[in-house]
Amino acid sequence: MTSPAADLVIVANRLPVDRVTLPDGGQGWRRSPGGLVTALEPVMRSNDGAWIGWTGQADDDPGAFVDDGLSLVPVPLSGGEIEEFYEGFSNATLWPLYHDVVAKPEFHREWWEAYVRVNQRFAERAAEVAARDATVWVHDYQLQLVPQLLRELRPDLRIGFFLHIPFPPTELFGQMPWRRELLEGLLGADVVGFQLTGAAGNFVRLVRQRVGHKTHRDLVYMPDGRTVQAMAFPISIDTAAFEELARSDSVTERAAAIRTALGNPERILLGIDRLDYTKGINPRLRAWSELVAEGHFSVRDSVFVQVATPSRERVQQYRVLRDDIDRLVGRINGDLGRLGSPAIAYMHSSFPRHEMAALYRAADVMVVTPFRDGMNLVAKEYVACRYDNDGALVLSEFAGAANELRQAWLVNPWDINGMKEALVEATRAEPKELTRRMKAMRKTVSENDVAAWANRFLAELESARPAHNKKLRPVR
Ligand code: F6P
Repeated sequence: MTSPAADLVIVANRLPVDRVTLPDGGQGWRRSPGGLVTALEPVMRSNDGAWIGWTGQADDDPGAFVDDGLSLVPVPLSGGEIEEFYEGFSNATLWPLYHDVVAKPEFHREWWEAYVRVNQRFAERAAEVAARDATVWVHDYQLQLVPQLLRELRPDLRIGFFLHIPFPPTELFGQMPWRRELLEGLLGADVVGFQLTGAAGNFVRLVRQRVGHKTHRDLVYMPDGRTVQAMAFPISIDTAAFEELARSDSVTERAAAIRTALGNPERILLGIDRLDYTKGINPRLRAWSELVAEGHFSVRDSVFVQVATPSRERVQQYRVLRDDIDRLVGRINGDLGRLGSPAIAYMHSSFPRHEMAALYRAADVMVVTPFRDGMNLVAKEYVACRYDNDGALVLSEFAGAANELRQAWLVNPWDINGMKEALVEATRAEPKELTRRMKAMRKTVSENDVAAWANRFLAELESARPAHNKKLRPVR
């Protein structure tokens, strides 16, 4: 089926649906739980939108289709491309490089060639699907060449790009053998969006240094007369939906059941992360185990629940991390746990939103300690679920969310003693103190939800090319 011309095209590595097997044995699609699709759904519906992305499986090419009113356009990847483009260049080169080189990035020329080839394929699909003068919004580090490749094919389009992960400082980006190509790829967009202003600054500085274009503040002056704007748009969550879920009877019951299953401890501390080496799971668990070993907490009345969602399991560094965490949790529980009372309740599994909300409701202290994180939506989700203005958030200063959630207990994940102090303080804080902090954070998260984020980006994109013919209808 060929898809109709779309006035708004979203281009992301993954489609917002996963393949599922239906009760009758047939194949169907289930909407992925991410906030991005929730935010963009209304604007896509009112603007004949289409979403271009990979289904997540090798050689899967079902052709364009409509799912629950959304027009979806799959881009197939071969097994080799999954290895070289997705696991390789995206997740073993760009991911560590853009996260402060927390792990060593690998640079392989064949991976780069696959990255160029796959980006070209995404750009071609977008060029086919977009109506004349349409708006195309490209997402994330896997697709940084798409803006330029697409502009070459379709100069009529208005093109925006948003990077969901950090953008590294000039010194680190300099390691990238294809640094100029990546910068030029991004410069195909009219607006390049980042989570933080610091990242936008890094980008503009790099363009000046490495490409040689003139810049002024957040603007890049292109030789063809265009200007490119680099700005921060901190992403958020569907705050109202999370709060509504958290208030539901079934989540309230499930939260109580979780506390009971854990033996009704006085305190529950919680970590929920993708199992990723950027998330700082290891030092967080070490800090907790030292506090237990030193007698600040007893496993009889306190427990740390750590959920690690399986992720990128074929990438070597993720396998190593899984073994490290398995060993660490085993050692800590072996040394400190008692029958029926582990120091850490560890789950290597992914949970639906309902269960996440129940865990957020059950937890007294949420611990989010990445070494580097573009934003970290778990921190915002916890805040959204604490409608009683209680609960404490311990948050790494290296998560983008720390810029907005200033009332959290901010920690440096490299400083184990500092984290221990913050965990003790947050756990022992007076209810009044918790309320003061949580109220302020809840205000921030409810005023800046994901719909506001999407609207702001699209409005900036529209005003960046005012002479352009088409106007989009807003999200709300
Ligand atoms: O944060 C970046 C990101 O690519 C998200 O867009 C995505 O939800 C998450 O990481 C998981 O990534 P993957 O698509 O590799 O499973």
